Amino acid sequence: MAAASPEERPAPTGPAGRYGEALFRPEAPGEGERIDHAALVYDPLTRQRLRALGVGPGWRCLEVGAGTGTVARWLAEEAGVDEVVALDRDTSRLAPLAGPRLRVLTDDLARLDDEAELGSFDLVHARFVLMHLPERRALVDRLAKRLRPGGYLVLSDAADVPDPADARSAYRRTLDAMWRTLAETIGTDVAAVLDYPHTLRAAGLAEVAAELVCPPLTPGTPLAAFWRETWQRMRTDLLAPGRLEPVVFDEALAYLDSPGLAELGPGMLTAWGRRPVPRP
Ligand SMILES: C[S@@+](CC[C@H](N)C(=O)[O-])C[C@H]1O[C@@H](n2cnc3c(N)ncnc32)[C@H](O)[C@@H]1O
Repeated sequence: MAAASPEERPAPTGPAGRYGEALFRPEAPGEGERIDHAALVYDPLTRQRLRALGVGPGWRCLEVGAGTGTVARWLAEEAGVDEVVALDRDTSRLAPLAGPRLRVLTDDLARLDDEAELGSFDLVHARFVLMHLPERRALVDRLAKRLRPGGYLVLSDAADVPDPADARSAYRRTLDAMWRTLAETIGTDVAAVLDYPHTLRAAGLAEVAAELVCPPLTPGTPLAAFWRETWQRMRTDLLAPGRLEPVVFDEALAYLDSPGLAELGPGMLTAWGRRPVPRP
């Protein structure tokens, strides 16, 4: 029997579907703003890391799961790279950004054929994407193959650092319920993020390194808005039987808006590795 072509092969799903289908539908009102709230917090960290890796003129970049395009636009307009390909399954917010140095590509990452006419890249960057895709290990291998010799694969995703003394607060219980719900619906794996350095090495990359940054979760910040919007968006799934009681959910939401909010919230782990340059 002939093997199915990549277009025919269904992408792996979580138990209830994929990101953007079972949860976080792109057409939901406010979804762009939710993504932008996280971008406001994490873009400066991403830029700092990419700059440190040397991104700039002469580079060709693939921005995977580009979202609202804040990183893709920065690469094209401020870092001055030669070309950015901004890939997302939903490009409604990226399309207006397309230009001579920013190409927008609508596709599901899981269905991108290794041989597709994408070419090779000096930088492949994916932020807050792979943790949500059950086939992440295979995707890392495929993204690593897209690198030019000397090119970097940079992965950023959420990393939770729970307070061991707090197992019962409404905030903690809601976060725990959120990770469980994400795993049980779309197949998110927040624990796998901590393994990214090993995943990158297993994909054949060298000079692997990682860092974890946890910006403060305090009142009135874009980070507090991001978690409020994320929890509200997940409300029905979070309150499904056996997950979280409504009274705990409401208390956690109120805490996010309270003047006393002070938490080491989930941070961003960034791991990177480089495709070895063959010896002459
Ligand atoms: C949480 S958002 C992050 C957006 C952006 N990377 C950022 O950090 O601001 C996840 C993005 O990944 C995209 N995405 C999720 N699954 C995808 C897939 N299988 N293929 C392509 N894009 C995907 C979503 O449409 C969404 O734009």
